[in-house]
Amino acid sequence: MATGRGQFSSKIGFLLAAAGSAVGLGNIWGFPTQAANNGGAAFLLVYLVLAFVLAYPALMAELTIGRYARANVITALSQLHPLPSLQKTGFIVGIAALSVAVFILSFYSIVAGWMLAEALSPSAQLLQLHSVAGWIDTQSFSRNGLMCLVMSLLTIMIIARGVEKGIEAWSTRLMPALFLILLGMIGYVLTQTGATEGLRAYLVPDLSRLSDPTLILSAMGQAFFSLSLGVGAMLIYGSYLRDTDNLPRMGAAVTLLDTGFAFTAGLLILPAIYVAQAQGITVFNNEGALIAGPDLIFQVLPALFDRMGVAGSWLALAFFALMSIAALTSAISLLEVPASVAVERWGISRPIAASLSGGGIFAISLIIIWQFDKLFSGVVTLTTVYGQPLLGVALCLFAGWVLHRHLLLKELRNGHPEIEQSFFWKVWPFYVKFICPTLILFTFVQSLR
Ligand code: PFF
Repeated sequence: MATGRGQFSSKIGFLLAAAGSAVGLGNIWGFPTQAANNGGAAFLLVYLVLAFVLAYPALMAELTIGRYARANVITALSQLHPLPSLQKTGFIVGIAALSVAVFILSFYSIVAGWMLAEALSPSAQLLQLHSVAGWIDTQSFSRNGLMCLVMSLLTIMIIARGVEKGIEAWSTRLMPALFLILLGMIGYVLTQTGATEGLRAYLVPDLSRLSDPTLILSAMGQAFFSLSLGVGAMLIYGSYLRDTDNLPRMGAAVTLLDTGFAFTAGLLILPAIYVAQAQGITVFNNEGALIAGPDLIFQVLPALFDRMGVAGSWLALAFFALMSIAALTSAISLLEVPASVAVERWGISRPIAASLSGGGIFAISLIIIWQFDKLFSGVVTLTTVYGQPLLGVALCLFAGWVLHRHLLLKELRNGHPEIEQSFFWKVWPFYVKFICPTLILFTFVQSLR
């Protein structure tokens, strides 16, 4: 590898960083509510199958390309084949991935800022700073801008410190904290009235929903967003992996951690919704579906915390700290995409690259906050519904068709010398060439109807 490039210092460092990217608002917020409204454990089942059958092979495409090329997404994709036309295509796909990463981060840091605000508000209450808490609770441009700025600065600071001292060190600190807060909250919420009904809604499958095509679509979108696919974030993390690490095993561990975390988050959110119902809070909308999306996070749960007195303030603090941490470890992987391009292609220093790209993305976030109703949902849909699956297909095609089979094998042998005899090698190359792109495209086209 090129000397001077960062590298993860240990397996666990990489695992926590990649799991940090994967585990985010999508797991704690998106997954449980989708499960609740799509047949409980039936959704869980489909999600698990798709995560391993579709998302894991696509994740492997990114990790393998990344470690083979040892470069940022643009350089990596434009160097996989000697043919100039394929290099040009790689360059264009790289730019597209970078743009999608930039726009996902621009809306993700706004939402991360809301989480931070919700964590700071009960802290201000607990410290008797009632007027500060009052301002934090407003939905003003200045509040949203400031909170987004704080989250963006934290992200920039971590990326400026580099792979080992920034991404790895902070993921190693924050991920265990995240897990402990989640477990602590589950322990508390499960003791409350109504919790068992929530567990039942989550864990007893409504199998009649399995034939519902929208369930499969939602589960695929969720799996792609959750595993951070299609934007080069996993590709760049793969490029910092050591040659001695076994890629298929690392990818499987990341997928397991991500799905495991989503499952565990469901054990908190679903019981919490039913505890809220037992307290008289409205949790179903007019159509009889559970209130999901922003209303769940910013109305149902805060209403529940409010009714729990001082314990509620601590719970609110813990919950939104959990969300802020989860958002931060995902945001750093998104910022690493443009920052690594700037460092490696323009030769500028890491702190400057992190500040320039982070600053530019913050400017986009400010525009979105300013024109929120016009821009926010459009940016979310464009990047996550269209951008991620289509780029996921492109990355599978690059791994399957553009990177020569013997180079793929050579790369995978590093860290796994007997790979040729493994089930993975017998299935994956064919799979990533034909099955994965076809299935993703098929599901994608269905979703446009
Ligand atoms: N995986 C993150 C989540 O589930 O919230 C979101 C995400 C992070 C998407 C990084 C894409 C990405 F590159």
